[in-house]
Amino acid sequence: MTVGFIGGSGIYEALPLNDVREETVETPYGDPSAPVTVGEFGDTGTEVAFLPRHGPNHEKSPTHLPYRANVYALKQLGVERILASNAVGSLREDLPPRTLVVPDGTFDRTKHRQSTFFGEGIVVHMPFADPYCPHMVDHLHESAREATDAETEKGGTYVCIEGPQFSTRAESEFYRSQGWDVVGMTAIPEAKLAREAEMCYATVAGVTDYDVWKEDSEVTLGEVLENAAENETAIKETVERAIETLPEERDCDCGHALEGTINTPVDAIDPDTR
Ligand code: ADE
Repeated sequence: MTVGFIGGSGIYEALPLNDVREETVETPYGDPSAPVTVGEFGDTGTEVAFLPRHGPNHEKSPTHLPYRANVYALKQLGVERILASNAVGSLREDLPPRTLVVPDGTFDRTKHRQSTFFGEGIVVHMPFADPYCPHMVDHLHESAREATDAETEKGGTYVCIEGPQFSTRAESEFYRSQGWDVVGMTAIPEAKLAREAEMCYATVAGVTDYDVWKEDSEVTLGEVLENAAENETAIKETVERAIETLPEERDCDCGHALEGTINTPVDAIDPDTR
C-alpha cells in the first residue's frame, strides 16, 4: 500500500525512506507543491508518498497552494490514505504550544479556494459532517500518544481561516466562544478534496502559539516558526508510528464517499469526463 504524507510548516523533508524516487506528476490543476518523494518506509513494505505542502522552501501561501494538484497527484500515485500535519494556534488554555491535536471537526472560514474537483457539468453534493476519517483520527492520535513525549489531544474543532494574516482579537475571541479548539490555515480544502477523491484523511496539528485571545501581544511568525520546528520531531514520530501500525485494509466509508452524491444524469455528463 502507498500512504500519503502532506507535511505542513516545519516539515520539509520526507521520513527516512528506502529506494527513494522523485515523481513529477502532471495534473489538470497544474503542478503540485513539489515533486512527490516516494520510497519504502523501513522494511514495512509500505510505500510513502511525501509532499511538503508549502513547497520545499516554504514559498507558497495558504490561499495560493495547489490543493487540487496535490491531492490529485497523490491519488495518481495509488495513495488511499493521507496523513497530514498542520501548524495551528490554540484556542484553549489547556492546549499550550507543542501540544499535538488530532482534530475530528472543522469549521471552514476560507473564502478564496477551489474546494471541489467537480462543477464543470457535474453536480456533486457529498456528505461532509465528519471531515476527517474517524478511523484515521483514532489511529493517528493513538500513534501520537504511543510514540511521542508530547501532550496530545484527541478530537476538537479546527477552524480554518483564509489568512495569510493571523486572526484579529475579535475573531479569536469569537472562535473561542464557539467552543472551537485550534485555528489554522490549511486543512481546508485538503480534507474536502481527499473525501471527494475517496481517500481517508486525518491530520496531526502541532500547536505553535495561543492565538491572540490570550496575549496582549500579537502572534508572531517567529514564535510560530520556532515552535513548528520544535514540533517537527514529535510529528514525524507520530506519522512514522501511524504508518508502521496501519492496517493493510481500510475499514471505513471513505473509499465509497461518492456513492449516491452525483446529481447529474449520466447521459448529461460529457463522455470525456464520465
Ligand atoms: N498557524 C499557526 N498558528 C496560527 C494561528 N494562530 N492562526 C492561524 N494559523 C496558524
